[in-house]
Amino acid sequence: MIQKYVFGEPFETEAVTALIPASEGAPAFGSICMENGFSFSYRLAPEDIVYGLGEANRGINKRGYRYISCCSDDPIHTEDKRSLYGAHNFIIVSGAPGKASFGLFFDYPAAMTFDIGYSCREHLAVSCEKADLYLYVITGESACDIACQFRGIIGKSYIPPKFAFGYGQSRWGYASPEDFREVLQKHRQAHIPLDMLYMDIDYMEDYKDFTVNSKNFPDFQAFVEEMKRENIRLIPIIDAGVKIEQGYPVYEEGIERGYFCTREDGSEFEACVWPGMTHFPDFLKPEARKWFGHWYKVLLDAGIEGFWNDMNEPAIFFSAEEEALLKEWMQDIVEEKETFHSFNLSDRSKALPNKPEDYGRFYHEVDGKKIPHQQVHNLYGFNMTRAAAEAFADLAPDRRILLFSRASYIGMHRYGGIWTGDNMSWWSHLLLNLKMLPSLNMCGFLYIGADLGGFGSDATEDLMLRWLALGVFTPLMRNHSAAGTRRQEFYQFEHTEDFRHIIGVRYRLIPYLYSEYLKAARDDDLMFKPLAFVYPQDRIACHTEDQLVLGNEIMIAPVYTQNAIGRPVYLPEEMLFVKFLPGGAIYQETLPAGHHFVEVALNEVPLFIRKGKKIPLVDAAEYVEALDMGTLCYIGDQNAPYELTEE
Ligand code: GLC
Repeated sequence: MIQKYVFGEPFETEAVTALIPASEGAPAFGSICMENGFSFSYRLAPEDIVYGLGEANRGINKRGYRYISCCSDDPIHTEDKRSLYGAHNFIIVSGAPGKASFGLFFDYPAAMTFDIGYSCREHLAVSCEKADLYLYVITGESACDIACQFRGIIGKSYIPPKFAFGYGQSRWGYASPEDFREVLQKHRQAHIPLDMLYMDIDYMEDYKDFTVNSKNFPDFQAFVEEMKRENIRLIPIIDAGVKIEQGYPVYEEGIERGYFCTREDGSEFEACVWPGMTHFPDFLKPEARKWFGHWYKVLLDAGIEGFWNDMNEPAIFFSAEEEALLKEWMQDIVEEKETFHSFNLSDRSKALPNKPEDYGRFYHEVDGKKIPHQQVHNLYGFNMTRAAAEAFADLAPDRRILLFSRASYIGMHRYGGIWTGDNMSWWSHLLLNLKMLPSLNMCGFLYIGADLGGFGSDATEDLMLRWLALGVFTPLMRNHSAAGTRRQEFYQFEHTEDFRHIIGVRYRLIPYLYSEYLKAARDDDLMFKPLAFVYPQDRIACHTEDQLVLGNEIMIAPVYTQNAIGRPVYLPEEMLFVKFLPGGAIYQETLPAGHHFVEVALNEVPLFIRKGKKIPLVDAAEYVEALDMGTLCYIGDQNAPYELTEE
């Protein structure tokens, strides 16, 4: 059952698509206080588990920390960070046996604090500055049922084209056709499957959206076609900020039509991002969305079939106002009104990006009313991605376009997927990648993945292999890294054959992964479930955080520590332990329920098939379209039914 409560005058975020009449009175769980903003409190029983929050730090059980829902550009997200790139306000309190279970969605687009047993171990407190929001309270048979009911009211999840289940290679710095050709050739020569090459900002002219550097790409369309003949899709990046430059049509049109976010005095807000000073399109205005979305046509017309939307928290290096202050200070130093040492340049420069003051400097226009950005901050990336998706429905109505974003809010899952932003080549981020998967699914995001191998800092070969062995299962399987870090294309490492094997396993599993994805989208279900959602009566399973159930048939348990020869696993029931061995053989051993230690070498991919289940497998191929369904076979219990879904 779902009940909706209205407080004050909520902003219409369009996260929820179902029409639900408002309930009178107070929710059956917790207490609400509206004296100082809004706060919801609930006393947790010691054994209650709290799920949700989508893209958030820490565990699957969110207890024990304070999280702030506020889309933030934070590449160095150590475990003390409170906000990441997405803001997903859905949680489930899963009661210990005999206790209440319920889901809560706080539909509120500004910053919101979830203190989940941080200030006080048994106290859940959700609070925000203004008492203007919708609160949805969901009750059901189980945590899983509550998550699926929630999914049922927020609309169907985005489905990408099938090629998007292939492997993608990305790196910030590929700039010319030669760079891309080299990456492609090295994959094909080594017979490493590859479907996508990602184009980071260097393909553009001066980092201007919807431009292509014509010196490097004199005939872009011909290059896109050349790549397609090799069965490669080029996937360009699009950033939120539009460069301020006379003669640049996106800028000029935006100014002329009043489509950019403004300051209090009505002038366009200016912020520095990759292209230098930019304006931010006002994606909350339907006309501006339509306008920006139709600019993607330039690239669609050249044959492009997929995009990644970036910097859309929006990320701000510094605003024109901050720049002016900085210049004043510098001048004071030059004129010796201030000593160099009294001015802490390093602290000042660290504090510049994504400054709360800057987010307080601009406004959106919604239905003729000026809305301070901070009040709707978490909707920006959502509406940028919606702008693109709505335009695709118009420009390319007969095909699916690949689309995913960095910032997001619930509701955006209908329009695209997400990657989880700038992570690091850290083992802890491999584990974080695993733990986020079910939480993101609860919030509707199905097309998801992290930068495999880590974006920042230097990857090692073993980290790369272990991370790919998890990436084998994530819908978005992309190796991406930052300029200046150690190169991490597979061919930069010694054991090419190990990479060929692991990525090949992904292609063998595509019929399974795609089927389970489509079923999850169709049934408002999770593709990745915490063990607790499948084995709720099993206390150990309920507290296992480093294993997941994928689809209906398998359990995954990747290795995520360095120099490990394998890992401990807990089996809630008898399962078939499967390892894809290098060379193509498949190791299979039935293991009884209980605790085990399984050995997994760096070049093996482990999975577990549940009792009485089987999964489809095909032969690997070098790209998705070459997968031969004639090679289809099943592994597991051959008598079990399996619904293979293809679209
Ligand atoms: C941002 C993105 C990253 C990209 C970089 C340059 O940091 O998150 O993926 O490589 O910008 O465009």
